[in-house]
Amino acid sequence: MTVIRKTILEAETIPRVEIDFMNNTHFEEVEMVKQLGKLITAYQETDSHSDTEEQKLSQSLQEWLEHTIAHFERENQLMQETGFPAYEIHSNEHEIALNQMKAGIRSWEQDKEIELIADYVFTHWPEWFNTHVNSMDMMTAKFAIMNGFSEI
Ligand SMILES: [Fe+2]
Ligand SMILES: [Fe+2]
Repeated sequence: MTVIRKTILEAETIPRVEIDFMNNTHFEEVEMVKQLGKLITAYQETDSHSDTEEQKLSQSLQEWLEHTIAHFERENQLMQETGFPAYEIHSNEHEIALNQMKAGIRSWEQDKEIELIADYVFTHWPEWFNTHVNSMDMMTAKFAIMNGFSEI
C-alpha cells in the first residue's frame, strides 16, 4: 500500500484576511474537509465497503461542493460591488478550482477510486486553498476595506 502524506488544514493556521465573512466561510470549509478526510481515511483503512459508507462519502463531497459554490459566488459578488481590478484573475481561479472539484467528484461517483479522491482532498486542494487565500482572497479583502466596504 502506498502511504501518501496527508495535509489537513486547521482553522487556526490558515491565512486570515481582513473581512470576517470570508474568514468564517474559510473556517467552515476547513472543518468540512476535515470531516470528509476522516471518512476517506476510514475508507482507506478497510477492505470491504458498504453502500452506506460510499453514500456518506458522496454526500460529504456534495455538501463541500455546494459550500464551495456559495463561497466563490459571494466573493465574486464582493469583487463586483467594490470594483476589484483583478476580478477576472480571481474569479477565473474560482472557476478552474470548481471545475477540478467537480471532475474529482464525478470520477469518484463513477469509479469509487478512493486513492484518487484522497490525493485531491489531502494534497491538491490544501495547496490550492492556502495559496489562493494568501493571494487572491487577501488582496480582494484588503481592496474592499480600502474602498469603503463594511460588514456592519
Ligand atoms: Fe475564499
Ligand atoms: Fe477566492
